[in-house]
Amino acid sequence: MIGVLVSGEGTNLQALLKAGLPVAAVASNNTKARALDRAAKAGIEAAAFPAIEFDSREHRDEELADWLTERGVELVVLAGYMQLLTKPFLERFPGRILNVHPSLLPAFPGAHAVEDALAYGAKVTGATVHFVDEGIDTGPIVLQEAVEVLEDDTPETLHTRIQQVEHRLLPTAVRLFLEGSLSSPVASA
Ligand code: GAR
Repeated sequence: MIGVLVSGEGTNLQALLKAGLPVAAVASNNTKARALDRAAKAGIEAAAFPAIEFDSREHRDEELADWLTERGVELVVLAGYMQLLTKPFLERFPGRILNVHPSLLPAFPGAHAVEDALAYGAKVTGATVHFVDEGIDTGPIVLQEAVEVLEDDTPETLHTRIQQVEHRLLPTAVRLFLEGSLSSPVASA
């Protein structure tokens, strides 16, 4: 079973659902994430874990990991989850967390990858699915695909084309993981 972590719109969550992947639970750091409504509409258990309601990020992440485990989650997918996961969470899902990011990593990590690629004048950017480690958008790369930057692109037009790629790449990577076709970056996973 898959647990999906989201912070915003949830178009990547929608792509996972459309692909018929076994999403058991959806959680967010943001109570107002539209992705939570999408989950509820699809009849999937959804909950928010805002950091402000816990005495530490680590404590929040432990509760979040418990909640996912109770729902049978074995693979965690970060689909637009915009907070760094702390060590207690990473240790609960070793080699079993995937993230989708709107650039060709290791170029342009962070929360403003599309704006950063445009500001740098990159002619090509893209989308990446990778295993998550303790860094910001670091960890072994699973799939990548390039997207050309057009002369008149705005952050919105470029992000829209990158997301079209993400919506193909992320379900493909998740399917490969569930089939056992991805080699885990962690020996014990
Ligand atoms: C996606 O484009 C994803 O790559 C990006 O947030 C967007 C979420 O869209 N993630 C990051 O930038 C992570 N560093 P969505 O909520 O519609 O799926």
